[in-house]
Amino acid sequence: MLHNIEVDQKFAHLALPIFLERGKLDARDRAFVTEMVYGVLRRRLALDFLIERFSSRPMSRVDQATRELLELGLYQLLYMDRVPDHSAVDTSVEMAKRRLKRGAEKFINAVLRETVRRREELPWPDRAKDEVEFLSVFHSHPRWLVELWIDELGVERTEALLAANNRRRQVTLRINTRKASLEETTAALIQAGLTVSPGLYEPQAVRVDAHPPRFLFEKGLVYAQDEASMLVTKVLDPQSNELIVELGAAPGGKATHIAALTGDTGEVVAVDLNPARLGLVKENADRQGFGSIRTLEVDATDPIALQAAIGADRKVDRVLVDAPCSGLGVLAHRPDARWRKDPEQIAELAEIQQRMLVSAAALVGPGGVVIYSVCTITAHETTEVIKRFLSSNESFEAQAFTIAGFDSGPNGFLQLLPSEHDVDGMFIAKLVCRS
Ligand SMILES: C[S@@+](CC[C@H](N)C(=O)[O-])C[C@H]1O[C@@H](n2cnc3c(N)ncnc32)[C@H](O)[C@@H]1O
Repeated sequence: MLHNIEVDQKFAHLALPIFLERGKLDARDRAFVTEMVYGVLRRRLALDFLIERFSSRPMSRVDQATRELLELGLYQLLYMDRVPDHSAVDTSVEMAKRRLKRGAEKFINAVLRETVRRREELPWPDRAKDEVEFLSVFHSHPRWLVELWIDELGVERTEALLAANNRRRQVTLRINTRKASLEETTAALIQAGLTVSPGLYEPQAVRVDAHPPRFLFEKGLVYAQDEASMLVTKVLDPQSNELIVELGAAPGGKATHIAALTGDTGEVVAVDLNPARLGLVKENADRQGFGSIRTLEVDATDPIALQAAIGADRKVDRVLVDAPCSGLGVLAHRPDARWRKDPEQIAELAEIQQRMLVSAAALVGPGGVVIYSVCTITAHETTEVIKRFLSSNESFEAQAFTIAGFDSGPNGFLQLLPSEHDVDGMFIAKLVCRS
């Protein structure tokens, strides 16, 4: 599995379920495999750092398959308390005998035994000498990201965020009460063997300890969505019979939530550039039983094309800009994602975000509301987009809001963090057209 993800560049959260299905494992083993694979992907930098120290061999001289077995072994020894040391070592050595070239098992055995021996005093980088290096290695995040967050959040909040990204997040579901009541669906989830707890902020949200059976999604009873995303729609505050546009709407999580809140009245225009993903919006709307959602394939960075596609004479009440972003707020769900991010993309994304926001603004008249959201944590894509927009769009102003007990303050924006709010990292800003 690790090999698959690393060598074939697969996404862990997509590849793992297929692998688990094929493996015909029971629930316990599935959870065990998931923790090991996700854990190694998350902690890769920390694990490889220690492997280099314990083997006195640079990683570049350790072949891929040996490295993967070592990472799995070290992960069990250092981060999992369910596996006795001797099992972790013996299984790794056994696997090395079967799968690696002769002699590799000796190397694996030596490194794992050294790990056990030095476990109480692991040779992490010296924090006093280079704090960024320490945080990057110890919490296993790319150095550029640690630097960026320290600049924006300070050391303490950054460290809490890094730690939160390494914790397993529960799965959150939005219950679709159009199909069944909260109680009925909760009972179905319990029946399926899941542990269910209520959401922290949203009455329609429940948190579960594993992915529910597919049929609950297929019947439109539940939709997997983090509470941070639900709060975005709540800030949008859609009302009955309004015309609401969402830019960047696929696969339809927020669009279907909007339709749920309007009681499927009015119209939700779900705009996206990606036709395949727009197909998912249709599927999700059909499953959940909403007829008020219309999909529209158009590039939302082009205000003229967008306006023409929606109808220049139509009065749009609210626009949600759920822009593409660097996704740094959802690293806890995507264990391998942190290694795929590229700091250079951030500036490009900020440009697209700005243009989508300008297009959104052109759709509304006085009193119209524009909500801007991104599931990330970089000033470039959040506060700076809003500042730049306001400085050149004088008819708009930021409006303060309160949601789930959180106060945006007068700047009209809120940054939710996994470490502080126990939801995905999400930025939400509210803008209103005054003339
Ligand atoms: C964060 S995702 C949207 C998630 C969605 N709002 C939901 O709640 O399920 C961003 C979306 O923006 C779309 N997108 C990217 N660039 C776009 C553009 N120029 N015009 C329209 N949509 C775009 C992507 O295809 C992607 O589906």
